[in-house]
Amino acid sequence: MPGFAPWATCRKMDDASVPRIREFKGRDLKDILEIEGHAFPKTSYPEEVFRYYARNPYAVFLVAEVEGAVVGYLIMEKQGHIVSTAVGPTHRRRGIGKKLIQCGVREARQRPWLEVRSKNKGAVSFYRKVGMEVAGRSKNYYGDDDALIMTWKEWGIDSDSLGT
Ligand SMILES: CC(C)(COP(=O)(O)OP(=O)(O)OC[C@H]1O[C@@H](n2cnc3c(N)ncnc32)[C@H](O)[C@@H]1OP(=O)(O)O)[C@@H](O)C(=O)NCCC(=O)NCCS
Repeated sequence: MPGFAPWATCRKMDDASVPRIREFKGRDLKDILEIEGHAFPKTSYPEEVFRYYARNPYAVFLVAEVEGAVVGYLIMEKQGHIVSTAVGPTHRRRGIGKKLIQCGVREARQRPWLEVRSKNKGAVSFYRKVGMEVAGRSKNYYGDDDALIMTWKEWGIDSDSLGT
């Protein structure tokens, strides 16, 4: 993708910073499952989903670490589909979700996009804030709610101007 620094650049920049963004390791699984359980109590992904993405070369699985503890994660398929992201409840509104997504999208081969519950107002605000916009709606996608389809607004711009 023209103009975007690759993930390796993001990793290098972030090595000494807080939160530290790095790739998922097997030992993170327990913490990720806990974060997932808090974020999506009724619809948590099972362990197998995380294991699948951890070994999928066509996906990016990043975690955010603060003082050695894993406090958030992001999974994105490299074709641009942002599969899921969550930050632990005590670490929200500190810019961790934003940093995860900004690092993750550097690996996207096409314009990043996702589905989000229309009733999840906090997440919709978050995605707007980091540079996404609503591109469509899928009726009853979740059975009890519509999905909003959101896409990255300014795709192809220089990474330095990524919503910072
Ligand atoms: C959505 C989520 C990942 C955001 O993570 P976060 O680390 O708290 O987000 P950030 O601190 O990087 O937020 C960046 C900006 O997004 C906006 N934002 C974030 N959460 C918001 C909320 N709940 N309500 C309104 N705006 C919000 C704010 O403008 C925020 O900047 P500010 O704090 O300076 O005002 C986190 O709230 C979460 O894990 N939620 C539960 C899981 C979830 O809904 N995931 C998405 C499902 S598709």
